[in-house]
Parts: sequence; structure tokens; C-alpha cells
Amino acid sequence: MKLAIGNDHTALEMKREIIDLLKDRGIEVVDVGTNQTGSFPYAVSGYRVAKLVAEGKVDGGVLICGTGVGISLAANKVKGVRACVCSEPYTARLSKQHNNSNIIAFGARVIGVEMAKLIVTEWLDAEFQGGRHAARVDMIMEIEATQGLKAAEEYKEG
Ligand code: RB5
Repeated sequence: MKLAIGNDHTALEMKREIIDLLKDRGIEVVDVGTNQTGSFPYAVSGYRVAKLVAEGKVDGGVLICGTGVGISLAANKVKGVRACVCSEPYTARLSKQHNNSNIIAFGARVIGVEMAKLIVTEWLDAEFQGGRHAARVDMIMEIEATQGLKAAEEYKEG
């Protein structure tokens, strides 16, 4: 398995710890940066990881900024990407099982490194369950592809 990882200046130390965890699991890691301590825009690393994921050059990605929000928003602008921000392992697991997340994101200013490791571990160990969840994820991808959603016209309340 090969994963890409990216971060902004808030997450250098956390990223190093996550890279160690990934390598300990035998995962090949592509580090797109940043490795500088000075201010670095999260959109750059979010985009770099997203592009690698969308092009199938890696099997998934990990993104870390201060909150996980900006970097995942940037990544989610790339077609085919489903980047999910998680602050605990339950959501991380469900993001894969139900939402088929291909990027996991979190905030170095929000959670500690041990929680980050649990999140990544839970996400890696989970598998997409397909079935009814596939139909729902397909709707998300339809919105992305067409900027519309046929089901939105069909579903009525009550
Ligand atoms: C950087 O100060 C901070 O805005 C960034 O790391 C992230 O939290 C944005 O969503």
C-alpha cells in the first residue's frame, strides 16, 4: 500500500509521527510537504495529496493542518476525492465504511498525537461496506460530476 501525506506549518511534528506509524505498518509514504517551519498554505499540500489520490498514484492520503478543515476543503475540490475531517476514531472508521473516504484529515491544534495515531489506525483497518452506502456515495459523486442530483427532485418528505 502507498499513501500520500501532506500538512501545513502547524503540523510538522504530528506528521513525522504519523509517517513513522505508516512505515511501521509497511506502508510506502509519499510526503508532499511541507517540511518547513515557516508559514505554508494548507491548500498547496491539500491539492498535492488530492491530485495523487485522484490520479490513482497512491491508495489514499492523510492531511493535517491546524484544524483539518482548510486542507480537507482544498482536497475536496479535486474530482474523485472524499476527504473527511475526524477528531476521533469512530468517525474515522465510519468515514471509510460508509463514505468510502480516500483521504483522512485532522487538526494538529485540535487533537494530540496519540489520538491522531488512533484515528489513522482505525481508518486503515476499516473497509468500505458498499451496498446501500454505495448508492449514497454515488449521489455525492453525481453532485460533483453534474452539479445536480436527480434524487433531490424525486425524494419527497412524508
Ligand atoms: C493556519 O493558521 C490555520 O488556519 C490552518 O492550519 C488550518 O487550521 C486551516 O483550516
